[in-house]
Amino acid sequence: MADSARVVGDPRVIVALDFPAAAEALAFAGRVTPSLCRLKVGLELFSAAGPAVVEQLVARGFDVFLDLKFHDIPTTVARACAAAARLGVWMLNAHALGGTQMLEAARGALEGTRSRRPLLIGVTVLTSHDAGTLSEVGLAADPAAQVLTLAGLVQKSGLDGIVCSAQEAGIMRVRFGAGFLLVTPGIRPAGTASHDQQRTMTPHAAVRQGADFLVIGRPITQAPDPVAVLEGIDNELRTRL
Ligand code: C5P
Repeated sequence: MADSARVVGDPRVIVALDFPAAAEALAFAGRVTPSLCRLKVGLELFSAAGPAVVEQLVARGFDVFLDLKFHDIPTTVARACAAAARLGVWMLNAHALGGTQMLEAARGALEGTRSRRPLLIGVTVLTSHDAGTLSEVGLAADPAAQVLTLAGLVQKSGLDGIVCSAQEAGIMRVRFGAGFLLVTPGIRPAGTASHDQQRTMTPHAAVRQGADFLVIGRPITQAPDPVAVLEGIDNELRTRL
């Protein structure tokens, strides 16, 4: 595991900044602190606001997960990873379907980029897929088997871990061991709305299953008091683990 992985006392929560423009994302960031949460910049915000918003969040001291799910020829992905590392991101990701050559190129591009290289996480099967949509794109395997195959490729290629559903975290932890980071979306603190997430899990249950980092968006970004929600999660994890 890279030295920039979570250590005791670091926040496990990564807030998904799913905002349409930089102003809203930066306004949200102004309401929280790097000791309370990490921040995720995904395709919507990055497409709207570009690298500048990432640099501004990093300059404010936040650990930023750049969630752009790279998937291209190895050289292009390697160069994109190196460019992301220059922005100062803490974590980034690439699609395991790109194969070991692409994943190893991505991993190699991050070596020596900074004293603390960014963590590199593999995306296996998007949770929006089911057996039908997988077979439509020529992947006949059962989705769960496909996740295991791709997670194996990710580990073999030297990446730091995977994005997976909290429902899969227990199996992944057993299969891939303690040092393999599990980053889980679909988390809902008890008593909050599930929105469009189908199979949710509470922060406490997800960590019990083996999740290292919890990606949470709307229950925090749309809360009247985001700090109170983050502190509630932190207290729950501290007192119940
Ligand atoms: O608002 P919410 O907590 O549902 O946001 C979850 C975040 O995690 C979003 O940015 C979403 O794109 C991301 N995500 C997900 N499910 C996956 C992969 C990523 O919800 N399988």
